Amino acid sequence: MHPKHAITRAGAAVCLLAAAVTRAFGQWVLAAHAMPCKACHEALFNAFAQTAHFKTSAEASAQSVKGSFADGHNVLRTGVAGIYFKMERRRGAFYQTGADSARSTSRTERIDLVVGSGRRGQSYLYWKNGLLFELPVSYLAGIDQWINSPGYTDGEIDFARVIVPRCLECHSTSFKLKQERRALQYSRDYELGISCEKCHGDGHQHVQYQSSHPAEPRGKYIINPAHFSRERKLDNCALCHSGLREQIRAPFTYRPGEKLDDYLSPASDAPIPDVHGDQVGLLRRSKCFRSSATMSCSTCHDVHRPQRDLAPFASKCLACHQTSQHPMAAKIGARMITSCIDCHMPNQRSNAIQITTPTRQSSLSFRSHAIGIYPEVAATILQSGRER
Ligand code: HEC
Ligand code: HEC
Ligand code: HEC
Ligand code: HEC
Ligand code: HEC
Ligand code: HEC
Ligand code: HEC
Repeated sequence: MHPKHAITRAGAAVCLLAAAVTRAFGQWVLAAHAMPCKACHEALFNAFAQTAHFKTSAEASAQSVKGSFADGHNVLRTGVAGIYFKMERRRGAFYQTGADSARSTSRTERIDLVVGSGRRGQSYLYWKNGLLFELPVSYLAGIDQWINSPGYTDGEIDFARVIVPRCLECHSTSFKLKQERRALQYSRDYELGISCEKCHGDGHQHVQYQSSHPAEPRGKYIINPAHFSRERKLDNCALCHSGLREQIRAPFTYRPGEKLDDYLSPASDAPIPDVHGDQVGLLRRSKCFRSSATMSCSTCHDVHRPQRDLAPFASKCLACHQTSQHPMAAKIGARMITSCIDCHMPNQRSNAIQITTPTRQSSLSFRSHAIGIYPEVAATILQSGRER
């Protein structure tokens, strides 16, 4: 579902990966396995396990793969005669086949890993020679159908796109790279899903200390981003929510609390950042953010639990704004709370993601974090209210 697919093109990507990684050897310190955070933070952990972060990557399984393998739903036809894709489930494993019946050729690869919680969609990866490659068919939740993977050309059978580490840095907890003779490979010692350590750092010492001091009411030797400056709070999320940025240091080396600009090239200063994947860039441009000293992502988001209902978000606005002061209070009436987010943070189309089908180009919409005044959106919403 991604603009970043541009960087997954085979040849060049492998070189980039090589350059980035040789510098990283020796500093590879991320804890490999999930820490036992659940033992003491059970309620928080259980809620977190339901979030898109936690579910953003997984081994392929009947649960994690959202697309359908049922007859009649498992074929993706293309605009080129004779070229189609078939998705099959055999003995507990999942496969994609790209077939060119005019030439009587086909290629089949197994779906090994899933990327994407499935809120909007999923892409799929397969292992080959110690590297990960993207599969040509993705899944789009809105229409509940298989689609050409974003950025792929309809009617081409392309199994050659290497997955670069940056993709996994945003969609997993850790992936190690190792040198196998001359070639770089991903180690099988990886951790899928975004877990606690990604935002709290290595939890080893904390777990050890709290286990041996069960009466200690305070948490020690663990990073709590609540104590960061606003810029470091933003950086903690900007690692993955500030759009396309060049890597200055090796992937998977950034630690919470550090300055992100030392790891990634400066964020784009495009006048209008894309709504996909650049919430930091958009929020920074809003008057709310610029006029308040403290607003950060945590002002509205509790990343430890799923939050999709819009009404509770409106109450976050009311920490700083009053509905009675609203210049259009009378006109808006009872919809003040229910439409607050839709009027001021509207869903907007992303220009970064292109999905090509035989008949059209389609795009996806995301909630804009440029909080502001959108007169046309407001007019449409008020209009639809009257018609009801
Ligand atoms: C042996 C029990 C135990 C384990 C295991 C444990 N914690 Fe804690 N943690 C605590 C206690 C007790 C506190 C203090 C009370 C509280 O904030 O819940 C705490 C507090 C925290 C805090 C807040 C610290 C602050 O400065 O306010 C964070 C963040 C945290 N833990 C994260 C983690 C993470 C991440 C893991 C897994 C790597 C983990 N904990 C595992 C017992 C534990
Ligand atoms: C996407 C980043 C992220 C992930 C993943 C994450 N946290 Fe947090 N956590 C935060 C932030 C940010 C804060 C500070 C919130 C604030 O400013 O009040 C926090 C605060 C905490 C606190 C302090 C008490 C509280 O609720 O505010 C605890 C305890 C904690 N986290 C535990 C965990 C555990 C355990 C996990 C894994 C199950 C986890 N966190 C996963 C970002 C994260
Ligand atoms: C390691 C990368 C990474 C970090 C760090 C990170 N995020 Fe995310 N975030 C993602 C990805 C990837 C998704 C999309 C997950 C999916 O749907 O597959 C996401 C999704 C979200 C969502 C949408 C949740 C939903 O239910 O759809 C919110 C909100 C969010 N992130 C907020 C934050 C905040 C706030 C922080 C910092 C405290 C943060 N993220 C840090 C990668 C990250
Ligand atoms: C810079 C961080 C970053 C990189 C690199 C990145 N993504 Fe994402 N991705 C995100 C964020 C953030 C979201 C969700 C929020 C949004 O779109 O704004 C997301 C959403 C997705 C989704 C939709 C999840 C859902 O269910 O809604 C898929 C699928 C996905 N990415 C696949 C990939 C793949 C495959 C790659 C690499 C080839 C990749 N992404 C690279 C950050 C990243
Ligand atoms: C941390 C405090 C804070 C929060 C939370 C907050 N705002 Fe603001 N917002 C401000 C400040 C300060 C201003 C600037 C007021 C001024 O200049 O008079 C502002 C300005 C605005 C403006 C005027 C924008 C413009 O471009 O003229 C709108 C609209 C707005 N906020 C809507 C919202 C909405 C909707 C939410 C919730 C999603 C929200 N705000 C949350 C502090 C906040
Ligand atoms: C003023 C409140 C507010 C602030 C501050 C805020 N968000 Fe959001 N965010 C929302 C609302 C409301 C939604 C819509 C809920 C949803 O659809 O998941 C949302 C949705 C999201 C989504 C899902 C977008 C989509 O359409 O899939 C991501 C990702 C996200 N926020 C990340 C962030 C990050 C990162 C920050 C900090 C840079 C941040 N948010 C700051 C209110 C806020
Ligand atoms: C039906 C759409 C709609 C809803 C619902 C709505 N607003 Fe507005 N809001 C607007 C429009 C349009 C303006 C600009 C009005 C003007 O300039 O005359 C505005 C202006 C504002 C301003 C700037 C005020 C000023 O004095 O310049 C703030 C702050 C604001 N809204 C906050 C909110 C908050 C917070 C909510 C929800 C709790 C909300 N609005 C609900 C459409 C809406």
